[in-house]
Amino acid sequence: MSIESFDLAPGVVVPRIVVGLWQLSAGHRGGQLDRTATIDALERCVEAGLDTFDAADIYTGVEELLGRLVRRMGRRSRIRVHTKFVPDAAVLPTIDRRYVERIVNRSLARLGVETIDLVQFSWWDYQVPGYVETLGWLGELQSEGKIRLVGTTNFDVRRLRELANTGVEMVSHQVQYSLLDRRPENGLVRHCLREGASLLCYGTLAGGFLSERWLGAADARDHWSNRSLQKYRLIIDGYGGWEAFQDLLRALHRIAIRRQVSIANVAERAVLERAGVGAILVGARDAGHLEDNLRTLQMRLDAEDRQTIESLLSRNPGPQGDVFGLERIPGGPHAALMRTDLNQDNSVLE
Ligand SMILES: NC(=O)c1ccc[n+]([C@@H]2O[C@H](COP(=O)([O-])OP(=O)(O)OC[C@H]3O[C@@H](n4cnc5c(N)ncnc54)[C@H](OP(=O)(O)O)[C@@H]3O)[C@@H](O)[C@H]2O)c1
Repeated sequence: MSIESFDLAPGVVVPRIVVGLWQLSAGHRGGQLDRTATIDALERCVEAGLDTFDAADIYTGVEELLGRLVRRMGRRSRIRVHTKFVPDAAVLPTIDRRYVERIVNRSLARLGVETIDLVQFSWWDYQVPGYVETLGWLGELQSEGKIRLVGTTNFDVRRLRELANTGVEMVSHQVQYSLLDRRPENGLVRHCLREGASLLCYGTLAGGFLSERWLGAADARDHWSNRSLQKYRLIIDGYGGWEAFQDLLRALHRIAIRRQVSIANVAERAVLERAGVGAILVGARDAGHLEDNLRTLQMRLDAEDRQTIESLLSRNPGPQGDVFGLERIPGGPHAALMRTDLNQDNSVLE
């Protein structure tokens, strides 16, 4: 089966659904991971055509897991490895080239590859200078062949313009983009279209909230089974609250029934069809949703679907400001859920 794809860079063709692996990290899932069953599940994704995975140096245990998959399937299939370079907040004031190289070398070793397909650069605190130089060092590692392509994650337009001065080409910007959170439309989409970069979007399903499971469900405030739900519940507040969210779910459900697909399919497709979007990242704990998600790549919304969605969204503009702005407010509810020291913790695995 051929999979709907896009060009991340000239000659680099990537499926429009990238399998997100945050859900497998120790910090997200809690409890033990059945490694063999999980690698079996990832193998099924590759065999179905979803051969591109999104990891990060701070997703504890995930780069190693992906490395196992690469070793198991590498000879048979081309597996594309996207990771992130996320220096801890405490490191930012003293970051230097040696640190950057050490972390990238660690990712290479964990993944068991000679070149990482995409490294996505993140910076916790704009008040600390150094992100421009740091991107330059990633660019040097790219010239040395350790990194194929460079992108960013969670940078706003103002800082992306500064980063553009490095001359390092950024092919993608990974940000939250969903029907509940359309902050990329406040400037980043325009920037991407101008610069020829692609948006790689997370949160398209709001951690699973945009699915039948939550249709008509009561708000379980403060009793969430994982960190995603806790985080995206705040986005639901930004969208307009639980009742507005339920209105959206009901509208998506009506479309889904008419099209004989799932709510997730409609929510994913609605983002895929927005300007500037290269791919959506859909988080996976196993292959349970694989078949359903593949359906998203085989459908298109029609004019009636789009009108239904847009008329609802026009009443609910959602969180305001540039991407990841709310998340950067010190002491704010979003920031309170984030850990900015996971790279340090992770180094014990070296
Ligand atoms: N750069 C960043 O700051 C950042 C932040 C967050 C995430 N990410 C990346 O983006 C990826 C996506 O994560 P996310 O947090 O945005 O989560 P998401 O993709 O919005 O939601 C993923 C969850 O939705 C459920 N799901 C998946 N497909 C479904 C379907 N077809 N029908 C119903 N439910 C479905 C699954 O939950 P159940 O298994 O519980 O059903 C899954 O764990 C992450 O793995 C990570 O790679 C990046």
